[in-house]
Amino acid sequence: MKSLKTDLNGLYPPSDAVQQSAHIASLDQYLKMYKASIEDPIQFWEKLSKPFFWKQQPTGPFLRYNFDLKKGNIFTKWMEGATTNVCYNLVDKHVEEGNGHRMAYYWEGNDPTEQKQITYQGLLEAICKCANVLKTLGIQKGNRVAIYMPTTIEAIIAMLSCARIGAIHVVIFAGFSAEALAERMIAANAKLLVTADGTFRGTKFIPLKSIATQALKQCKAAGHLINHCVVFNRLQTSKLNKDVPDIPWDDSIDLAWETVMASASDLCEVEWVDAEHPLFILYTSGSTGKPKGVLHTSGGYLLYAATVFKYAFDYHEEDLFFCSGDLGWITGHTFNVYGALACKSSTVIFDGIPTYPDGGRFWELIDRYQVTTFYTAPTAIRTLMQLDRSYVTKYSRASLRLLGSVGEPIDPATWHWFYEVVGEKRCPIIDTFWQTETGGPIICPLPGSTPLKPGSATLPFFGIVPAIVDADGVEMIGEGEGYLVIKNPWPGIARTLDGNHQRFESTYFEPYNGYYYTGDAAKRDADGYFWIIGRRDDMLNVSGHLLSTAEIESALMQHPAVAEAAAVSAAHAIKGESIHCFIVLKHRWKYDGIIEDAIKAIVRNKIGAFAVPELIHPVPALPKVASGKIMRRLLKKVVQQDADLGDTSTLVDQTIIEQLLALTTKKG
Ligand code: WT7
Repeated sequence: MKSLKTDLNGLYPPSDAVQQSAHIASLDQYLKMYKASIEDPIQFWEKLSKPFFWKQQPTGPFLRYNFDLKKGNIFTKWMEGATTNVCYNLVDKHVEEGNGHRMAYYWEGNDPTEQKQITYQGLLEAICKCANVLKTLGIQKGNRVAIYMPTTIEAIIAMLSCARIGAIHVVIFAGFSAEALAERMIAANAKLLVTADGTFRGTKFIPLKSIATQALKQCKAAGHLINHCVVFNRLQTSKLNKDVPDIPWDDSIDLAWETVMASASDLCEVEWVDAEHPLFILYTSGSTGKPKGVLHTSGGYLLYAATVFKYAFDYHEEDLFFCSGDLGWITGHTFNVYGALACKSSTVIFDGIPTYPDGGRFWELIDRYQVTTFYTAPTAIRTLMQLDRSYVTKYSRASLRLLGSVGEPIDPATWHWFYEVVGEKRCPIIDTFWQTETGGPIICPLPGSTPLKPGSATLPFFGIVPAIVDADGVEMIGEGEGYLVIKNPWPGIARTLDGNHQRFESTYFEPYNGYYYTGDAAKRDADGYFWIIGRRDDMLNVSGHLLSTAEIESALMQHPAVAEAAAVSAAHAIKGESIHCFIVLKHRWKYDGIIEDAIKAIVRNKIGAFAVPELIHPVPALPKVASGKIMRRLLKKVVQQDADLGDTSTLVDQTIIEQLLALTTKKG
């Protein structure tokens, strides 16, 4: 970090225009504030917590934690004893302060004619109504509510009505299959499901209600009864809704959103909850194949989400924020909902795809709404990069001030296209590194202070002390490459994995005792900049969706012909990574297109379309060590057609890799 000011080669320093109005307007200012945040985190975060409303102040220490398994259980508690309500801070407070007329959301559907908007006042009324509906349906503080909805204002209303009454929302990405939805509803012990009739991805119909109905049947068969399903009529505004199949309906379970909302009162007292009361659970993939229910709590998460929103996007009241992320993932939670509303932002949310009706959709949207801050994922940028440049250049994009990226490393080529073509070298690229578990970005540049390096997530956010450790857990000082860990607690860190605290400890704290382990490898350069290399556990990142090899393999194994299976990632020009599967067939089965289609269908049904393998290789055997463990590292070499195998001495059958290399070449 020290040498930065003298050597700006290859760096993109903040422009004067950006610096002029920035909250943090120089590297020195960032360094000073960062130093304060790590030297006295309590004082730092206490000060930032002041603008929020706390019904009661903390009764004990502002922060208590233990990251050392030798000293006992892992825990992090911020502002214990304080009471608040996150929904109150996000909505009521702004209305009470006279900002009810301010626009909270502009919603844009898949179809460019589908538009809605809602003010803070409107949002408050709708949330109160929905909270009353939940209460009528028996939902109480601490109960879990599953939300399986496309990115809509109504999904946000459902989320915040849970927060209002102290219930815990469990948003399940609307790309998941019935089986994946049921598995998560059962794991979370959800009492109620809120869904929609369906939505479109381009011209493709997504039958959400049919999937939900199937999932509810699966829950029932497993002995988990969900008595009510509230269904929002999402298709009413769609022009494509003419030919959709009938929406299944069961009067004994299903309730129309519009009907229940119409008769509910728009007044609903907030429930004051402890700062450490759970706010939501969000499932993410885990390396055992069983999804992890990442649990975030109220006070700390609110504080962190608001702080990263303000500083990472250098948020000002006149900004219009547009994040293309789905509400079903943490990006949608932290930025589209919690961070944005905490900062009183006006936000565009989008239930569509970047290529429909054509590849200019994002840029058209940005012009029409006059978006200042656009946050998206490398996979979307790479898709749009392939298209003719005129899709971008025919729109002005003059309103854009800032661009952001999340979900996977943004390679320099993609970075440059985003920076030069989209932002016309005017907008800094805010590459935010984070995870479902971290609650918000933990390594990212700040627009007015951080000189950028294409491909680097740059420097730690306030209060974050990252370190690089080697395989033995020894911390590396200065330049180096190894495993990325965080040494200290921050307000947004997940508190546990729902129902399995031991898995929380073993996944994140046991690998390098004393540190939070991200699961990623990273490099730190001479300037102290971090470069995320990627996952080091059995995880794949396909179009920004994190999947585990075990999850995919267990789906593959469901086909009666499959004796053994292994999934590995392969580099993919648009998705970042794609899934290649190796399968060994049972005796007497012969691989053909029918088996291939059936296997893909199983993956689609068990997980979702986004997890379907790119390629399936039928092979005579898998490379294994004596204990039977599959050497996925070598399968990756096969996928890359890289004969430089490294140490294969533990491999039982030394000839297998050569066979596999030959087999996969033939496939081309
Ligand atoms: C994993 C977390 C954070 C919201 C979306 C993903 C990868 C995320 C970056 C980035 C390099 C990134 C990491 C991480 N990742 N952002 N800016 N640069 N890698 O959340 O599903 O919990 O996935 O995504 O590998 O561990 P998630």
